[in-house]
Amino acid sequence: KQPSIPTDELIERVTSSIEEGAIPVEIYNDLGIFQREMDNIFGSCWVFVAHESEIPNKGDFVQRRIGIDPVIVTRGGGGDINVLSNYCRHRGTQVCQTDAGNSRFFKCPYHGWTYSNNGDLVGTPHVQDAYGERMDPEKFGLFKAPRVESRHGFIFASLAADGPSLDEYLGGAGWMFDLVVGLHPKGLRVAGPPERYQVKADWKTAAENFAGDTYHIDSLHWSVEEIGLAQGFQANTAISVTYEMDNGHAFNGHTWTKVIHPGYVLWGYPPEITEKFDLSEMDETQMFVLNHEPPATGTIFPNLSFIRIAAAIPPGTPPTILTSFRQWQPVAPGVLEIWNWQFVWDFQTPEEVEAAQQLGQFTFGSAGIFETDDTVAWEGAPRAAKSPWMKREQFAFNFDQSKRSPIDRENDPNWTGPGIKRNTGFGEMNQLHFYRQWANVMRDGIDGQLNPARKEGQ
Ligand code: FES
Ligand code: FE
Repeated sequence: KQPSIPTDELIERVTSSIEEGAIPVEIYNDLGIFQREMDNIFGSCWVFVAHESEIPNKGDFVQRRIGIDPVIVTRGGGGDINVLSNYCRHRGTQVCQTDAGNSRFFKCPYHGWTYSNNGDLVGTPHVQDAYGERMDPEKFGLFKAPRVESRHGFIFASLAADGPSLDEYLGGAGWMFDLVVGLHPKGLRVAGPPERYQVKADWKTAAENFAGDTYHIDSLHWSVEEIGLAQGFQANTAISVTYEMDNGHAFNGHTWTKVIHPGYVLWGYPPEITEKFDLSEMDETQMFVLNHEPPATGTIFPNLSFIRIAAAIPPGTPPTILTSFRQWQPVAPGVLEIWNWQFVWDFQTPEEVEAAQQLGQFTFGSAGIFETDDTVAWEGAPRAAKSPWMKREQFAFNFDQSKRSPIDRENDPNWTGPGIKRNTGFGEMNQLHFYRQWANVMRDGIDGQLNPARKEGQ
């Protein structure tokens, strides 16, 4: 089916309407847009594929996805990390049919071509009878992601041979990432495989929500406040802070926990955990953020988000901290698969891991109290995008908070970290920053990836 509005025209429309604080509804369920996203965004940006703790030993592998393409992330015999296309070079069958395991080889189930775990073609059944001298195995290894880099164990891959390095791409978000996941030499590790579930939503809605939507908390998640699981929602948006980093990345310091724990530092981690942290590498501003306004959610463009919050279950007990990384996997126009990992510090005890897992499931698991609120709300966008009536109305989503600029919505003039900090959760600036990045990469691919955070009025 042909897209109803030419894709280039729709992208231009987004570019101009962003400045009016509006996003045309069509981009949330359009085949042409989806195909361009796969090509320009997932085909060029640094995309998270796995955490090193998921493949600690030689031969370990996990099956993952870059956009709609299945990839195998392997730990080779030399400890090297490979990101391999999971399409057999013979007829495209998936050579790896399981989510995770340990193997030196992947044997395609169809005709038996066999690849080593670094992607080399090492076996072709009946090779002499079938191909004679014509088979050159060097030409038929699995395709490999040309660039793979890790940061604090988080493995990112880019399908573009050239372009900004991971460091350049992350920019100030790398600085923030350091203080979220780099507080201990051994770092974080996964508490288990990612939970996966599909919802009829668009991946951008989820990414944008985690980049900047503090505004929804005291409405959509009010039941969480009502049952006493977390408190302070009503004040949250006003007292939150937002961090807009270069290249479309953004973070939110949701601060509701301050309301219940006035002395709250480091997300509310208890002393038996904070005393194990090594903060010697943190600069002065990172220490300020850690002690006063640590980011509770954030999005690394395009589709990796995290949440770290404290909550008490049952209410009245000491709070536990959860760290969930989630990846918004596009499946088809208007269809999203959520991948949800719980992370714990490498040094945490089995009891602490269990508590974090339980809290993670209770809040942001597939049946979690926050997650079910969010995903139902997010299903409106692709439905509206398919509505002939809404198209006639030229329905555009309202990001108008960004256009009103009371003084407290401006950039914090005293901010000494990278990017821009704003001392309120109102403003929807982070969301528009995400969409500006989206439009630039949709239009220009790799050449559109480096975009500075923008000061008010620029
Ligand atoms: Fe894999 Fe034929 S498709 S061996
Ligand atoms: Fe939410």
